[in-house]
Amino acid sequence: MTNPIPKHIAIIMDGNGRWAKRRFLPRIEGHRAGGKSVRRVVEAARELGIRYLTLYAFSTENWTRPEDEISGLMKLFIEYLRGELPNLVKNKVRLRTIGQKNRFSNEIQLMIDEAENQTKEGAELDLILALSYGGRQEIIDAVNLAIKNGKPVTEESFRRYLYAPDVPDPELLIRTSDELRISNFLLWQSAYTEFVYSPVLWPDFDKDEFIRCIDEYRDRERRFGGSEWVSSSHG
Ligand code: FPP
Repeated sequence: MTNPIPKHIAIIMDGNGRWAKRRFLPRIEGHRAGGKSVRRVVEAARELGIRYLTLYAFSTENWTRPEDEISGLMKLFIEYLRGELPNLVKNKVRLRTIGQKNRFSNEIQLMIDEAENQTKEGAELDLILALSYGGRQEIIDAVNLAIKNGKPVTEESFRRYLYAPDVPDPELLIRTSDELRISNFLLWQSAYTEFVYSPVLWPDFDKDEFIRCIDEYRDRERRFGGSEWVSSSHG
C-alpha cells in the first residue's frame, strides 16, 4: 500500500431504489435499508480511524422526486437524528451538515441544530451529512459571500466561504452501485480526489466493501497534476 488511510472520505450512497426494486419492495424500503448502512459505515469509519466522513444523503435535485418518497426520506432523517444521537455522543462523533438547511421543515431544522449542538465536542469523527446539498449551489453561495466581502479571492481565501471551510478536501470519494458520475457533489473539494466505484448497492454496503474501497485507494499513485509520485495525503 502506498497511501495512508484517508483522513476524509466522501460517499455517494446510490442504489437504494434498485435494491428495493429487486425485492419487489417500495423504494422507501431501500432507503430504510440504506439508513442501516449509514449506521454500519459510520461505526466502521470510526473503527478505521477516519477523521471526516461526508455522506450525500439528499441532493438539491432530490426535491423533484415524488412527494411520498420525499416525505418517507424526511421520516428516515428524523428517525436517524432521534435514534442515533445518544450513540453519536457516546462515540464522540460530531454531527454536522452542509447544504440548504432552511429548505427543511422547522422540525428537522431544530433536530439538526440540537444534534449539532449535543455532538459538538465529538473529536473522533466528523460525520458530515450533505442535506439539500448541491456543489454548484455551494460555489454560488461562496461567490456571493465573497462579493459581499468586497475583496478579490484566491484559491485559498475562497475556501473560507465554503460550507465547511475547516474540513480538508476528501482524498477518496466512493460511489456505490456502479454509476460513474459526480452528480453535483463536492465539486470544488474533489479537484484532486481519487474516485473509487463500488458495484455494491448502498443497502448492501458493509465494512468489508468499505475496506476494499479504501485499499483500492491506498494502492493508487497520486500526482496532483505533477509528474512526481506523491504518497502523503494532500490538504
Ligand atoms: C440514492 O439512491 C439515495 C438517496 C437519494 C438517499 C440516501 C438516503 C439514505 C441512505 C437514507 C437514510 C440516510 C440517513 C442519513 C439516515 P437512489 O434512490 O437514487 O437509488 P437508485 O439509483 O437505485 O434508484
